[in-house]
Amino acid sequence: MELHVVEHPLVHHKLTVLRDKRTPQPVFRRLVEELVTLLAYEATRGVRVGEVEIETPVARTTGVKLAQPAPLVVPILRAGLGMLDGMLRLVPTAEVGFLGMIRDEKTLQPMTYAERLPQDLSGRQCYVLDPMLATGGSLGGAIQYLVDRGADDITAICLTAAPEGVDKLQHLLADLQVPCRVVVASLDERLNDAGYIVPGLGDAGDRLYGLAE
Ligand code: PRP
Ligand code: URA
Repeated sequence: MELHVVEHPLVHHKLTVLRDKRTPQPVFRRLVEELVTLLAYEATRGVRVGEVEIETPVARTTGVKLAQPAPLVVPILRAGLGMLDGMLRLVPTAEVGFLGMIRDEKTLQPMTYAERLPQDLSGRQCYVLDPMLATGGSLGGAIQYLVDRGADDITAICLTAAPEGVDKLQHLLADLQVPCRVVVASLDERLNDAGYIVPGLGDAGDRLYGLAE
């Protein structure tokens, strides 16, 4: 697995405002979208394209367009949904599949409660959206799900990641043997005893959408 930490002053600036606990919800939402668009620029470097011939007002020329099947973007509900518009702004022709996952806050084990994805993902490039890579249970489960359906190339876009979660994914992906990269705005210090990323940004789902319970 390849980990790519995006080094860009605008990414650092926006992430700092996002981390700040005083940042109000509407600003938090907008910053998540803006950050994802910046990260997606890096994350889609390897997106598959095919050659096309076009005519400009001046001459015939060869260019490229996104290959078929279209990339599949998979936000992990809830918090990943806050990243979807920012991703689609950059890749408007992508298709979207949904995975609903919740982490048990005591055991930190993920549970899948919803899915709406094509049955056959062979030949699809998949872009998984989840702002937080903490223990890695949720993202690992999502990647396993996509690989079981035939996905052969997976990129995850996260805002922050803990080293513990990155290690867990490295082990999982060494077994799966599917090309996978994780693009993040920051590799943070660690997890705390409650399984939260430090310094992190708190509970991403709650900050985007309010308390669920
Ligand atoms: C959060 C986050 C990730 C997961 C990360 O979701 O959005 O999906 O936790 O933790 P992990 O790496 O330890 O699995 P949460 O379960 O809080 O659900 P929510 O998005 O509905 O708030
Ligand atoms: N989920 C979150 O929303 N935040 C964390 O720091 C860890 C998991």
